[in-house]
Amino acid sequence: MDRIIIRNETESDHREVETLIREAFWNLNVPGCDEHYLAHMIRSHYDLIPELDLVAELDGRIIGSVMYTRSHLTDESGNEMETLTFGPLAVLPGYQRMGVGKALLERSFEIARNMGYEVIVIFGSPANYIARGFKSCKKFNICPEGNIFPTAMLVKELKEGALDGRKMTFHESIAFNYDCAEAEKFDSLFPPKQKEYRASQEEFYIYSHSSVN
Ligand SMILES: CC(C)(COP(=O)(O)OP(=O)(O)OC[C@H]1O[C@@H](n2cnc3c(N)ncnc32)[C@H](O)[C@@H]1OP(=O)(O)O)[C@@H](O)C(=O)NCCC(=O)NCCS
Repeated sequence: MDRIIIRNETESDHREVETLIREAFWNLNVPGCDEHYLAHMIRSHYDLIPELDLVAELDGRIIGSVMYTRSHLTDESGNEMETLTFGPLAVLPGYQRMGVGKALLERSFEIARNMGYEVIVIFGSPANYIARGFKSCKKFNICPEGNIFPTAMLVKELKEGALDGRKMTFHESIAFNYDCAEAEKFDSLFPPKQKEYRASQEEFYIYSHSSVN
């Protein structure tokens, strides 16, 4: 772990990072994956925060990546608060569960705090993020349009007390609205991989179709 360098992604890293994201997400949530295309699109989007586009490098090889986009919350009077959202976050299979994801996130939190950001809102598997201080969106009275608190919607205060319990609606960047057909075309630029069913896809289904009451 002490040999891991966390640094900003550069243009020459792009294909290596997309390949690692594809390897990490392939067949995880659905047969195949689109996250490498998402990363490709997010990079050129105005909501990307370049300072928070990070890679973890070990002996010259990129083994982890995270990128952040701008998002925001609005309260019922229309007041707005700028927030951060990360994703994709990926660690190369073979290097997972060794603290690389943790190192990437902790470094990004430090940078984000120094930039003045106070709140991060994500959609993800709770088991991956509760140890990083994320809590259910319900605890902060934050939800997407409507009144449902998705199980996978998690919130972290970078500054304690930044959220005061007021009902807030979350708006993620439009960078996440991608065209699935374009994602498929982009994937064909990579070596062919078999799309298969995995049990983890059921877990993803449960998390992405459930809410906290
Ligand atoms: C999710 C992912 C980014 C986490 O990165 P990682 O380097 O594997 O994880 P870390 O070793 O840093 O562990 C992070 C936390 O996960 C949890 N964790 C670690 N090992 C675990 C295990 N074997 N089982 C369950 N949870 C575990 C712990 O809470 C840990 O934090 P802690 O060490 O402070 O307790 C990585 O596994 C990955 O790329 N997975 C595939 C893609 C993905 O799921 N991305 C996230 C989408 S939501």
